[in-house]
Amino acid sequence: MSIAVYPGSFDPITKGHLDIIKRASKMFDKVVVAVVKNHSKNPMFSFEERRDYIERSIASVEGLNNVVVEEFQGLLVDFMHKHNSKIIVKGLRFVSDFEYEFQMALTNRKLDEEIETMFMVTCYKYSYLSSSIVKEVCALGGDVTDMLPEAIMEDAKAEIYRRSHKGE
Ligand code: PNS
Repeated sequence: MSIAVYPGSFDPITKGHLDIIKRASKMFDKVVVAVVKNHSKNPMFSFEERRDYIERSIASVEGLNNVVVEEFQGLLVDFMHKHNSKIIVKGLRFVSDFEYEFQMALTNRKLDEEIETMFMVTCYKYSYLSSSIVKEVCALGGDVTDMLPEAIMEDAKAEIYRRSHKGE
């Protein structure tokens, strides 16, 4: 059984992430979305909120029955061992992503030489997207219709706006 792990902070999940999940679900028997719990990036959303947004986004798409969402902390390779997976899936948007992703892929292979990182080129229409961009546009009252999954659109938009303007 081929099991792929798609790790990230998903703060929050974007349409770009969901696109990678959909495509990976067709390529592997099972896809484990690994949501990092404690992240040095100091996320806007708690782990529970990020997981909830991912689960709602996945549930809104037909046919993603082989996708599960799991909590992850510590080394990714340890998570991979726990979930019997040797394949990490990552989305690549620009050449600028590559340097950091390349370093992470090599580090993970150094830690376990059987682990392969597979890069999927992000769909062109989502290539500009990142969670940080979505948060910035939302915070400034811009239109994020094509950026957030429909299932979480209203909730995430309102929360990002509220949190960004807290204390003003
Ligand atoms: O969505 P992000 O913030 O780009 O996700 C980065 C993440 C969580 C995938 C990365 O930081 C990670 O794999 N962290 C786990 C720690 C680890 O295993 N480090 C060694 C390999 S670089």
